[in-house]
Amino acid sequence: MPKLTYTTHLGMFDILPDESPKWRALENIIHEEAAKFNFEEIRTPILEQTELIKRGVGQLTDIVAKEIFAFTKGDSNYVLRPELTAPVVRSFVEHHLDQRGGSQKLYYIGPMFRAERPQKGRQRQFHQFGVEIIGSDDPVADVECIAFMMQIYRRIGIKNFDLKINSVGDPESREKYKSVLRDYLKPNFEELSELSQKRFEKNPMRILDSKEPEDQEFIKNAPVIRDYLNEDSSNHFELVCEYLNKLEIDFTIDPLLVRGMDYYTRTAFELTSPDLGSQDALAGGGRYDLLVEEIGGQPTPAVGFAAGMERLFIACEELDIALAPPKEVDVYIVTLGGAARTWGLTTLPKLREHGISATMDYLGRSMRAQMKDANRENANYTLIVGDNELEKGEFTLRNMKESEEDSFTLDGIIAKLA
Ligand code: HAM
Repeated sequence: MPKLTYTTHLGMFDILPDESPKWRALENIIHEEAAKFNFEEIRTPILEQTELIKRGVGQLTDIVAKEIFAFTKGDSNYVLRPELTAPVVRSFVEHHLDQRGGSQKLYYIGPMFRAERPQKGRQRQFHQFGVEIIGSDDPVADVECIAFMMQIYRRIGIKNFDLKINSVGDPESREKYKSVLRDYLKPNFEELSELSQKRFEKNPMRILDSKEPEDQEFIKNAPVIRDYLNEDSSNHFELVCEYLNKLEIDFTIDPLLVRGMDYYTRTAFELTSPDLGSQDALAGGGRYDLLVEEIGGQPTPAVGFAAGMERLFIACEELDIALAPPKEVDVYIVTLGGAARTWGLTTLPKLREHGISATMDYLGRSMRAQMKDANRENANYTLIVGDNELEKGEFTLRNMKESEEDSFTLDGIIAKLA
């Protein structure tokens, strides 16, 4: 019989014990900053109805056409969520969150799934944090969303990035622009890449996003949507830019920026980093004023963004930013003999009760091996106990970093370390 070897699926990764502290550190930062912005956390299921994602994200998008993990069980079609905007809107509509009053300022952290071809910074299971502000079309909401996104990177110390922004217009502006774009591209239709030819009729704006070399010449000289925005969309965009300036958030206007989902209207933005290589998008988002209605709710404007957490960690590595200190434990109880071992076991909860983290050997090892293990566990102190110490009621507390030791009663140790 061949030996069985089980592994994670391609593009999916375990978060191992050495890595989990940085995840927790980032999650803590997100929760803390979200609280300062008065955003509330929302958690939704990993599995959604396939139809929601098709409808919400868009049938013609790469995500729906090629990248969803979907399956059928019984009468239901399930999809592993590829993103959270459509699911959060589903939840908003399903639970009538509008009845809570005001705009809903929601944030989330969690895994997403896309069956993409894995490479550095591109995984099949990856994690996002993000915000969805549902119920406001005020440019203040767009800018608060961007400000929150920037604040996370600023706090972590990632400063080397490029915020690009654009308006993809409202449906009226977009229809006008699409027809101008088609008229412009039509004479050269045969020279466009196969993919762009496919997008020409239904989704010509996505051609602007093409990476195919044969398209670049046409993209470079293409008309820009800004010249075709109606007054509403144009004023909205002007205000977003003005408010960003007021907050001293640097940005560039990128007339070619179109995003990969169909739900965007008006504001679209992306944050890229030169520290990331080819998958250089740290985060992206924009307005989706029609999605709530599309999914069955009342017409409700909304804006949001999502950021890739693995990509944030890649940027941290490039910049030598440690998000979490190395692991440590306050006290490692080193025991010699059976009575000391029992004393150790019953002393652990007493230390922990006082907020002192504490551990001991579980393998019945020699004192020397326990000291070595205490070093490996990065213990700040070892508490050394044998029959003599038990008799006297005084124990040796060794400061592992300073290599100094002294004797204390247990109360003395607790008083010193708590
Ligand atoms: P997105 O641009 O598809 O937008 O994803 C946001 C971020 O998730 C990307 O900028 C990237 O950092 C990360 N990301 C995406 N795919 C992968 C992958 N395969 N591997 C690793 N990281 C990845 C959205 O998902 C929208 N829901 C954002 C949004 C929220 N728009 C409005 N509200």
